[in-house]
Amino acid sequence: MPYYPDDVINEIFAENDIIDYVSRYVKLKKTGKDYSGLCPFHKEKSPSFHVSREKQLYHCFGCGASGNLIQFVMKSEGLDFVEAIKLLAERAGITLPENPEDGMDVSHEYKKKIYEMNRIAARFYYETLTKSPEGKIGYEYFVERMIKPNTIVVYGLGYAPDKNNALFLHLKDKGYSDKEIIDGGLAVERNNKIYDKFRNRVMFPIIDLRGNVIGFGGRIMGQASEQNGYKIPKYLNSAETAVFNKGRNLFSLNLAKKSSPYSIILVEGYMDVISVYQAGIKNVVATLGTALTENQAKLLMKYCSEILICYDSDEAGQKATIRAIEIINSVGGHSRVIKLKGAKDPDEYIKANGAAQFYKAVSEAVASTQFRLGILRTKYSLDSPEGKSLYVKEAVTVLQSIPDAVEVDAYINRISDETNVNRDAIYSEYSKIISANAKRNILFGDRNELKQDTGSNESIIPVDVPPMIVSAEKKLIYLMVENKKFISEVQNTFPAEEFSTETHKKLVKLIYDLKNENKNIEPSVLVNAFEGDEINYVSNLFYNLEEYKDLNKTVSELIKNIKTEKIKNQMMNEKNPEVISELIKQLSELSAENK
Ligand code: CTP
Ligand code: MN
Repeated sequence: MPYYPDDVINEIFAENDIIDYVSRYVKLKKTGKDYSGLCPFHKEKSPSFHVSREKQLYHCFGCGASGNLIQFVMKSEGLDFVEAIKLLAERAGITLPENPEDGMDVSHEYKKKIYEMNRIAARFYYETLTKSPEGKIGYEYFVERMIKPNTIVVYGLGYAPDKNNALFLHLKDKGYSDKEIIDGGLAVERNNKIYDKFRNRVMFPIIDLRGNVIGFGGRIMGQASEQNGYKIPKYLNSAETAVFNKGRNLFSLNLAKKSSPYSIILVEGYMDVISVYQAGIKNVVATLGTALTENQAKLLMKYCSEILICYDSDEAGQKATIRAIEIINSVGGHSRVIKLKGAKDPDEYIKANGAAQFYKAVSEAVASTQFRLGILRTKYSLDSPEGKSLYVKEAVTVLQSIPDAVEVDAYINRISDETNVNRDAIYSEYSKIISANAKRNILFGDRNELKQDTGSNESIIPVDVPPMIVSAEKKLIYLMVENKKFISEVQNTFPAEEFSTETHKKLVKLIYDLKNENKNIEPSVLVNAFEGDEINYVSNLFYNLEEYKDLNKTVSELIKNIKTEKIKNQMMNEKNPEVISELIKQLSELSAENK
């Protein structure tokens, strides 16, 4: 099984909330600290399926199914561990390491180094553009594209020299190693030689929300062309590095969020962002050469209430618009679409029609559902009953992704008016789709696989271990993870090998190791170290709903109880009177403690 570094797994958990995900399958209601609903893994009438946001775990008190988000995805989608990781990573726009076994060096220090290096590179490109003779060609290109000097400053635009390794030498000069420069995505190695990644291009630094330079986009000056049979791409973007992830960042969000805008305009290209910004609208962003991800949609929703999609007006742009709408809907966001007539993209539109005309187009943005229905309308003729039927059937598929029932109802009325089809008939088509989806989503996996796990699974707990010890250890492990301050206390008393079952030993060793390495200790992550029945068992253990009043007292009592039980157990199997009297002495000492 490929091994993904903890950082990657942690990121997957951080970016995929279990409540959000499970809500797509199960109607969840907040009950106390947890969310609960009908268990998707067995048939039931009253909800015994619980999900905890805090622990990022689910647990069914009915059938015993339990686990973290990865296990939920595995079970609900019928995937193996790696496939589930891939699904969740994709959903969040996280790029997985290609050779997971290799791991990645993504320590904090290392990232800091790459940020620094990127900043130096950005400055180098900027100075070349604005101060050096070789950058003149880049500067003239920006002038030709009507970019103002101030915009060059605001965006820190630059120019990468037409030389093999100008930046590389500059960075070497500053003390960076070949490996660091290559890992940072600023140079590439070919035939044992190192070349600058960006050469003879105007440069767009990509800056994250904290102001770090995380990567670059570079554009050739002029049209895409071929050279010696090699097609030179118009834009080149930094490769994914330890600090650069295309699916999780947006160009210019650092500037767009400044005004706490009600809406943010989403465009396709860097030049579009810059033109719109120059036209006086600062709340504008672009993706980084890829389609919009759920993660980016969520990120945008943190900073605005609605996303105004303003993609290219060609067919590809229209398709991308529909995908973006679906992505935004799927994470519960609102979007509208800005339509530009007579120009390819916002940049060209503004150049041709001026800023005022663009404002007008923004103010006329149409609701995204209306936009999608509008596109459908042009596909079918409503003159014939067949045409109407096809239109209605496809129109209701558009409605299925709308989270708001009132909105759905209003659109059904609208479709009814437009087609003269009775609204009940349309509603019934809509219901068909919704219930078909619901059926698909109710995940009756193989029921035989489900174990009625009440926490005393025989394959996990050997019969000769006293239940009292097992139960006290479980609580102790739960409390250590719940409250990390108890770990040292337990560690000083019980080495991991002294725990009573193999599962407990493994789990406790993991907790101690993580603690010693100063790493995060999350239930949902710990569960990942286990396989088969142990997953249920371990996840179950963290799903402890007992309320403890005095935690310190509880922990010391548990420790004492375990010690006591162990001694009693030993006594029962002991024949040597001397040892027995020694054990009795230990017992009385124990009971005298804390009194
Ligand atoms: N893009 C890319 N690689 C390419 C082409 C495009 O990464 N070979 C990305 C860039 O982020 C670019 C965006 O897709 O900004 C939109 O591409 P396109 O519409 O072709 O370019 P414009 O933004 O219109 O750029 P320009 O006006 O400079 O031609
Ligand atoms: Mn353009």
